[in-house]
Amino acid sequence: MSVAYLSAEAASGAETDRYARCIAASKRVRWDIDADVIRGRRFDLDHKFLPDGLSRVDELSFLSADEQRFLSRVQGRTYANMFGLVERFIGAKVLECSRDHWLGDQTALEALVRFGDEELKHQELFRRIERMMAEVMPEGYSFAWQPNEIAGVVLGKSTWAVLALTLHIELFTQSHFRESIEPDAALSPLFKDVLLYHWREEHQHAVLDELEWRRYDAGISPSVREMAVDEFIELVGAVDGILQAQAESDAGYFMRMLGRKLQPSEASAVRESLLAAYRWQYILSGARHPHFRTVLSELTTESQRARIAAALTGLA
Ligand SMILES: [Fe+2]
Ligand SMILES: [Fe+2]
Repeated sequence: MSVAYLSAEAASGAETDRYARCIAASKRVRWDIDADVIRGRRFDLDHKFLPDGLSRVDELSFLSADEQRFLSRVQGRTYANMFGLVERFIGAKVLECSRDHWLGDQTALEALVRFGDEELKHQELFRRIERMMAEVMPEGYSFAWQPNEIAGVVLGKSTWAVLALTLHIELFTQSHFRESIEPDAALSPLFKDVLLYHWREEHQHAVLDELEWRRYDAGISPSVREMAVDEFIELVGAVDGILQAQAESDAGYFMRMLGRKLQPSEASAVRESLLAAYRWQYILSGARHPHFRTVLSELTTESQRARIAAALTGLA
């Protein structure tokens, strides 16, 4: 047996251990939508849905505290809808990646099947939450994106690009919770629990995203990777297109429901603040996540990272 063969076996064993730890974590934190998360509760209008650290509503000083709370609920509803949206393509991509393990590492296969199962449950949770938020919010809110249509576009890009986007999403989910959601005492206890339980199952997802991204990356040529970097940039641009339209829609809804007319400069500030908040929530907080930057720097060249950085510059 050659030394090279031995080291390949050792590497594969170490990877299997990482997949096995994800299975163990998945079993340990497993939760139920009704029994653990919702527990018969409903939303009320006394609380914010998103913390100021994510919503930035505290920067709009011409809004009253009540109005800021309402704007945070609009953003929280969009947050639930956005996760319902992205988890459609994440679940499908994970199941697609699992094909490579069907007749191989059964531990990796189990970890990815559990991942896919959890994302199906998360989508159901966010659909339930959307309906419960609609019950307590005035009519007229719109989130027109169709998860299957968006997933069709995203899944048309290379696996490298989709896994990069997915790792970025699943890492920012965690940093949002730890840095902004968990420490905020003014949040809706129900929505906080939704994001707490969601976060608990996202940790192992990010580990699996990275394992799969590295595995896929190891099997492609530099020219394929070069195109994949461009596709990743296109995906970030597509996300930004959704954010621009949703920020406009949410700003319009907020101002129609406000019960008073804002000055033109204040209306512009609401629109700009919403877009800046959404770009932070869904793009920049992930792109700047230290672990995302570490993995990206290990898988890309300096000029590829410069192209990605240039694409992000206009969003900050
Ligand atoms: Fe999820
Ligand atoms: Fe996830």
